[in-house]
Amino acid sequence: MKSPDPRLLDRIREQVRAEKPYLVPGARRVPHKLNQNESPYDLPTPLKKELLAAFLEVPFNRYPEEQPSELVRALSRHTGHPGAGILVGNGSNELTHTLGLCFVQPGGHVVLPRPMFALFESVVRLFGGCVTAVAPLPTMAFDTDGLVAAIEARNPALTIVASPNNPTGLAMSAADIRRLANTTDGFLVVDEAYHEFNPQPSARDLLETHPNVIVLRTLSKAFGLAGLRIGYLMAHPDVVAEMLKARLPFMVNRLTDITGQTLLRHSDLIRERVASISASIRELVNDLEELPGVEVLPTDTNFVLFRCNQDAGMLLEKLADDGVLVRNMGGYPELRGYLRVNAGTPSENSAFLTALTRHL
Ligand SMILES: Cc1ncc(COP(=O)(O)O)c(C=O)c1O
Repeated sequence: MKSPDPRLLDRIREQVRAEKPYLVPGARRVPHKLNQNESPYDLPTPLKKELLAAFLEVPFNRYPEEQPSELVRALSRHTGHPGAGILVGNGSNELTHTLGLCFVQPGGHVVLPRPMFALFESVVRLFGGCVTAVAPLPTMAFDTDGLVAAIEARNPALTIVASPNNPTGLAMSAADIRRLANTTDGFLVVDEAYHEFNPQPSARDLLETHPNVIVLRTLSKAFGLAGLRIGYLMAHPDVVAEMLKARLPFMVNRLTDITGQTLLRHSDLIRERVASISASIRELVNDLEELPGVEVLPTDTNFVLFRCNQDAGMLLEKLADDGVLVRNMGGYPELRGYLRVNAGTPSENSAFLTALTRHL
């Protein structure tokens, strides 16, 4: 195949040329996959069979609705937020791109904490925005005073926090989120990908009083639907009405739409699973804390950061050789030396702890 002339590639926007593609590092095939904060639980087989029967009735030759109205209604019942204020996406990552399209101007400011789920910064850069990233406190907790100071200094159109945060695992208090919402004249996005595991209240209540707040959520974690891609955001209906002009139609395919609606009807199953994943992460943290030489960060999520007195990359390889995949967080300057592991089933946790103990 003929290679493109470099001058041709130079016609691609410089912000795109400067980025790196989003790739999950070290994706090895192993029996125990604890590196992407997924749910360890697939849907029960009878429920999958029910879905397959429903899929047989779906006309694959027909477009889905531009926006999935039944799924929006189900999410409205689930959250108590009006449907006109809900936007559903092909995973919350896709909605993050829509946020970039709607709120990031070339040269415009965006304030966010560090370390932060990397996609946000990447999207801001892709849309030509300028990121002001506020370093964490020595405990890795959010520096809320620092964020308030950055908002006052930059007057950003957009401020983004993930609470609980990936990669640190720590939540921001409801009072601090409110303080950010009160401080900024722009929009505040609160990514609540892990909110089902967080004992603190959701930022959802702020939507009643703060039209500048946008809450982003996903069905990839607690609901165990990472493979099907459903995310949603909640905002004031007037804000969603504007966002609808920018976002692509047909982003939720018919099969995903049906699966999302079905799962939202099975709230008992989700509650049970959240309870067992929450118990699993508590046990995992306790067991890790008992290992000599292992330092563990507190967590409000289904994953935990830890470090030992050895090279994180080499330890990851040894664990992978023993069939357990975790994530090296060394790409974040503040988290050099840390590995991240998510709660698995009891047998996955014990495979991880056995392997780790062997290599300490
Ligand atoms: C903070 C945060 N937001 C969003 C996502 C991605 O969500 P989705 O699978 O809905 O795109 C993740 C996934 O790891 C995450 O950690």
